[in-house]
Amino acid sequence: MEKEKETKTLEEEQQVVNPWEVSAKGTGKIDYDKLIDQFGCQRLDQSFVDRVFRLTSRSPHIFLRRNVFFAHRDFNEILDAYERGEKFYLYTGRGPSSEALHLGHLIPFMFTKYLQEAFKVPLVIQLTDDEKCMWKDLTVEESKRLARENAKDIIACGFDISRTFIFSDFDYVGGAFYENMVRVAKCVTYNKAVGIFGFKGEDHIGKISFPPIQAVPSFPSSFPHLFSGIDKLRCLIPCAIDQDPYFRMTRDVAPRLGYNKPALIESIFFPALQGEKGKMCAGDPSSAIYVTDSQKDIKDKVNKYAFSGGQDSVENHRKYGANLEVDIPFKYLSFFLEDDEELEHIRKEYGSGRMLTGEIKKRLIDVLTELVERHRTARAAVTDEMVDAFMAVRPLPNMFN
Ligand code: TYM
Repeated sequence: MEKEKETKTLEEEQQVVNPWEVSAKGTGKIDYDKLIDQFGCQRLDQSFVDRVFRLTSRSPHIFLRRNVFFAHRDFNEILDAYERGEKFYLYTGRGPSSEALHLGHLIPFMFTKYLQEAFKVPLVIQLTDDEKCMWKDLTVEESKRLARENAKDIIACGFDISRTFIFSDFDYVGGAFYENMVRVAKCVTYNKAVGIFGFKGEDHIGKISFPPIQAVPSFPSSFPHLFSGIDKLRCLIPCAIDQDPYFRMTRDVAPRLGYNKPALIESIFFPALQGEKGKMCAGDPSSAIYVTDSQKDIKDKVNKYAFSGGQDSVENHRKYGANLEVDIPFKYLSFFLEDDEELEHIRKEYGSGRMLTGEIKKRLIDVLTELVERHRTARAAVTDEMVDAFMAVRPLPNMFN
């Protein structure tokens, strides 16, 4: 019994989720309930979905309805304040490590766009070109170029320019933002940073000095052109749960600096084509579907790589049905197939074996092709002038209207 417990603990320890590594290791699948316990965040239950619906009079986003956003920190406080008539701002970001975003990256941006529209609030988007320059083998110039390319994909998600400020660290860090970074850095010991991020002695000091840069957009005073005089404005951060360590650190230091702790709303990972052991990875083309993939790429990747819970022969499949717990086509549809009734129909038909793997894959290819095509058209309409306009340091006079 004791031995069993010991082995289990070891397995649990092997699950690794941090900004740089997401891996279920031996356990086969990321255990999100364990993550909630381990990280100390709260589960986002149905009462939140109902409350958002009530407060915004908008039908809840598919990612809320389907529990894609499954955890939070103090989201209830944001909603309480909003109900009292107070506003807040949104903060999210992207580390430009590749030319194109993959579908997993779109998730927080699609959801943030919905939140911006539903609550009518301003949004800051951080492009951590400095982070990727330090973690990946990228020059400063290449990181800056990728940041602008990624900004086009982000703008293509449909953000409202009168409420959105996008900034690259290389361009924006300085002034009040840098003052806050120094304040944060002074509150975090090296030991604490090692505890949160797992830095090693051989890591260069650029990595160790980075976390305050991602922390301080959580504080309104880092943006004097937007939030001057409203230091108590609350911040809500939508992201996948891999970014949680940065904000655990931020929330820890905020009260010591007299700032509000940022609130978070966190998603599960859009899994790799090969299965739920990890997240879709930008550096591994066979694990990911990119927003630049052609219809043929999508078809080939889904048919070749998408891990199937279907049985090995049609006969067995008809007899036993598909294992939906591990089936990637079904998982992907649950992220992106809007129609609840159709998803339920597929769950029953495929789960019982009446629908075959080839059929569910075909439906998935159609859904993803449409999504990617829509994104491609929107991105093609984004000009360099639009990127400059979103990234201009400027006041947003109508951001709360
Ligand atoms: P990055 O570029 O790794 O990821 C950008 C955003 O996408 C989320 N994400 C995913 N969501 C669902 N499924 C996936 N497979 C998946 N992979 C990535 C990430 O959680 C993130 O929200 N350091 C950050 C950039 C950043 C940031 C922020 C992110 C700066 N400030 C504030 C969120 C909030 C990064 O490299 O993200």
